[in-house]
Amino acid sequence: MCGIIGVVGGGSLAKQLTDGLRRLEYRGYDSAGIVITLPGGEMQRMRAANGKNSLADLESESQSLASADILSGIGHTRWATHGGPTLPNAHPHYDCSERLAVIQNGIVENFAELKGQLIERGHSFTSETDTEVISHLLEEEMNTGITLLEAVKIASHRMRGAMSFVAISLDAPGVLIGFKRMAPMILGTNGKQWFIASDIPAILDQASTFYHLEDDSVVSVSKDGVEVFAEDGTRAEMTEFIVDWTLESAEKAGFEDFMSKEIFEQPAALRDTLAGRLRSSGEIELDETSISNDALARINKVFIVACGTSYHAGMVAKYAIEHWTKMPVELDISSEFRYRDPVVDERTLVVAVSQSGETLDTLAALHEAKNLGAQTIAVCNVVGSSMARLADSVLYTRAGPEVGVAATKTHTAQIGALLLLALKLSRIKGQLYPNEIDDIYHELVEIPGKIEEVLEKWDFIRSVAQVFSERDRFYFIGRHVGFPVALEGALKLKEISYLPAEGYPAGELKHGPIAMLDKNAVVIAMASKTRLFEKIVSNIEEVRARDSAVIVIGNHGSESIIKEGEYFIEVPQVHPLLAPLVDVVPLQIFAYHMARIHGEDVDRPRNLAKTVTVE
Ligand code: AGP
Repeated sequence: MCGIIGVVGGGSLAKQLTDGLRRLEYRGYDSAGIVITLPGGEMQRMRAANGKNSLADLESESQSLASADILSGIGHTRWATHGGPTLPNAHPHYDCSERLAVIQNGIVENFAELKGQLIERGHSFTSETDTEVISHLLEEEMNTGITLLEAVKIASHRMRGAMSFVAISLDAPGVLIGFKRMAPMILGTNGKQWFIASDIPAILDQASTFYHLEDDSVVSVSKDGVEVFAEDGTRAEMTEFIVDWTLESAEKAGFEDFMSKEIFEQPAALRDTLAGRLRSSGEIELDETSISNDALARINKVFIVACGTSYHAGMVAKYAIEHWTKMPVELDISSEFRYRDPVVDERTLVVAVSQSGETLDTLAALHEAKNLGAQTIAVCNVVGSSMARLADSVLYTRAGPEVGVAATKTHTAQIGALLLLALKLSRIKGQLYPNEIDDIYHELVEIPGKIEEVLEKWDFIRSVAQVFSERDRFYFIGRHVGFPVALEGALKLKEISYLPAEGYPAGELKHGPIAMLDKNAVVIAMASKTRLFEKIVSNIEEVRARDSAVIVIGNHGSESIIKEGEYFIEVPQVHPLLAPLVDVVPLQIFAYHMARIHGEDVDRPRNLAKTVTVE
């Protein structure tokens, strides 16, 4: 997804721009570019569209600006949506006069209509992007004699869609104008310079104070400070927030890649997520809440919305909430929720689960839930993200920044947070006694230690992956909460190794998928000791009878269920509803090693972006 950075206040801005873009690499990009303004009324643009080498190309080209006295600049990494990953489509985009440039993250949904009108009025376009429409709209407004700030205020009303953009003009080269609507945008300052960025890491080591903007804000940033305007043009406030992430925590800390570092960070991430959340009264605290316990007591249904790995965490929560509260829980892929007339009212609690808090499908589902009158909670990792600010309450996963595109530590932290929410709801509903909540909470805080035991199997799991590295199909099977774990194991393998992999409820095999099993297939069975243990053992027999290879993830004492030539990866036995926290870890490690064995880039898998801010 596109990354944005803007800097005003003088200095060696070109390097600040490219350094900031480097730290946004994890968002995924296929081209990159900057525009800078120089004293004397000159604007210079540099762009590169060379896939993952684009930033390196841009860095070397911008060396020529190392000693230049630059007034202001904007920089962008593009993840193609409208128009291919070509140089003409790389941002920043000029207007006809090339005195104004724009970078954008998001989509101008009515761009085709606006572009047609602009062409009719004589504008000529050089790209296929929706972003170039913004440049020409601003040009048209400025041609009436108004400032860039006024032009942005007017033009933003003509565009539909979720977007944030930054514009720069030679008419006032020391000023950046930003607009934010349902796409991330923050501000920062170091006292001398001001920054606009799509994400915290872009300016983490450059700014010391950070600010959020509300949706539909227009912001004017110069070296002298900031002015913020609301949708109706009146002056508005920005909100300062504390960033306790260090740059070091966003770096690899000695690991070969971010994914392995983040897999090993899981015990700490989960400990942080659980820490101090249980009061002695048995009450569990949300981070920011405007939903009273009385309001939660009136809830008669829970609806969980999420995408990808977050959806799998939500699926675990469905089992836990239904078991511990006896309330029905519906679960939806976010992009389905908003278009299918979900049955939601003011007695429904809608829980949006998202690492980034910015995934557009989930953000839109959250908007829809609010429109329908639901009580809403966001479970997300990024403090002050759009979902965190939109929802009535927030429960943060305190996993720290996750750079690897494949979610690992944020997934286990999400499950931990959602289990806390399930316990909170059960207490409010009077379904569990405080001492039962206390017991489960204390089992939960033991889980990070259990995950550490699984991490010790890193090398063994690598050897298992090596054995099956030439196989071409992988099936993950599980029952009850083992099913979402199976889905997550398959997603991880697909995402980073590109091997065909599917997750199934084990009991469903015989209804179709078993037809795919033969001696080339590998089946990974989730076989922790639960009341369904014997049933999964029977499912493993079905697999064996089709000559497929078997890998079992199971607890101490179950080793005897494997036969010669099969593999057993032991995981500690824990409370059945907490088992996904432990059982998913060997699957993450398996996917990681398989991808490395195949020579793939685990941090930046092809075609994927860390945060998907388009529909
Ligand atoms: C996880 O490995 C994936 N990168 C992806 O499925 C991700 O979980 C999904 O896009 C949702 O992201 P979010 O948690 O930031 O909303």
